[in-house]
Amino acid sequence: MPIPAEPIWVHTPGRKYPIYIGHHLLSQKDFLAAYLQNKQVFILSHSEIASHYLALLHQSCEQAGASQIDHLIIPSGDQYKTLTTADEVWSALLSLNHHRDTIIIALGGGMIGDLAGFCAACYMRGVGFIQCPTTLLAQIDSAIGGKTGLNHQMGKNLIGAFYQPLAVITDISTLNTLGEKEFNSGLAELIKYGLALDKDFFIWLEENIDKLVERAPGTLQMAIKRACKIKATIINEDELEKGQRIVLNFGHTVAHALESLLDYKHILHGEAVAIGMVVAVQLSLQQGTIDKNVLERLISLLKKAHLPVQLDASVPLVEILTKMKHDKKHAYQRLRWVLLKSLGEPRICEEVTEQQITQALVKCGASP
Ligand code: GLY
Repeated sequence: MPIPAEPIWVHTPGRKYPIYIGHHLLSQKDFLAAYLQNKQVFILSHSEIASHYLALLHQSCEQAGASQIDHLIIPSGDQYKTLTTADEVWSALLSLNHHRDTIIIALGGGMIGDLAGFCAACYMRGVGFIQCPTTLLAQIDSAIGGKTGLNHQMGKNLIGAFYQPLAVITDISTLNTLGEKEFNSGLAELIKYGLALDKDFFIWLEENIDKLVERAPGTLQMAIKRACKIKATIINEDELEKGQRIVLNFGHTVAHALESLLDYKHILHGEAVAIGMVVAVQLSLQQGTIDKNVLERLISLLKKAHLPVQLDASVPLVEILTKMKHDKKHAYQRLRWVLLKSLGEPRICEEVTEQQITQALVKCGASP
């Protein structure tokens, strides 16, 4: 089968690469053929995804001309996105004799993609890698833009590198096997694109949320393409997050603190982002840039996507504040909030006081 529809292109100073989006792409060799001829291939995945798609991908790699195909299955969950797991990956690559021109393929969600990308960036000082994202969240966000990395016990994604893939192959059919909670978690990042960056997309999401929750294939494909286009446009301007790219972190200041506090086990990334977006909109409301209607529309949309809309009262306020400050200390910069100028328009703000943050967190359910 020939390569369908034009991909979306990401142009960074060091690399131009395609994002292919469609159904049943993993079973087609054409997307891989340009990269794998006579190459060693190392697929990184976790057991559940591997049980559905590894054999399929293996066969496509073989048909694409790969000379050696190995794989490693690692446990799933962000709590395993660590240096210890990365070491296992590098040890496997070395013991299987993978050379400098090997290609690492990430088959899985954000955790697999981030880890595979980081391992690729460091192995032999950098080998090629391909993202095959299988969660909604990875398809619209983490597989695009080259942020790779690991968690440290002191915080999420504190160790990492910008390292762009050779290509992103987004097979939407893989979402059919995704659990409900994980799928909904991806919807939070979709909502982020509308809320913070594209008012028309937010309105489209309001109109189509029920079809998205049902995973209607055509609606899903439209949403994924739109989100990828928004993200690619931002990456093309600011690969290394020196400026505008930070707007993609809308809702993430609180989200990362929550995930870290809950040991990456008790809340999914998108669930934390959903709560983080409510806090960011509450802060924007307090600052008078938007009216209450935006907050109400966001909460209504998140509820339709079965996402949490407030903090769990059992998470102590003081600990969230400490975690957020800790991230700031490690970044050697002021804590920069991404708030709203209006629906669909972000505003970067460094002048948020602890009192304002506390007030917003309490409004959003934290116990004082
Ligand atoms: N997920 C935010 C970014 O890629 O910059």
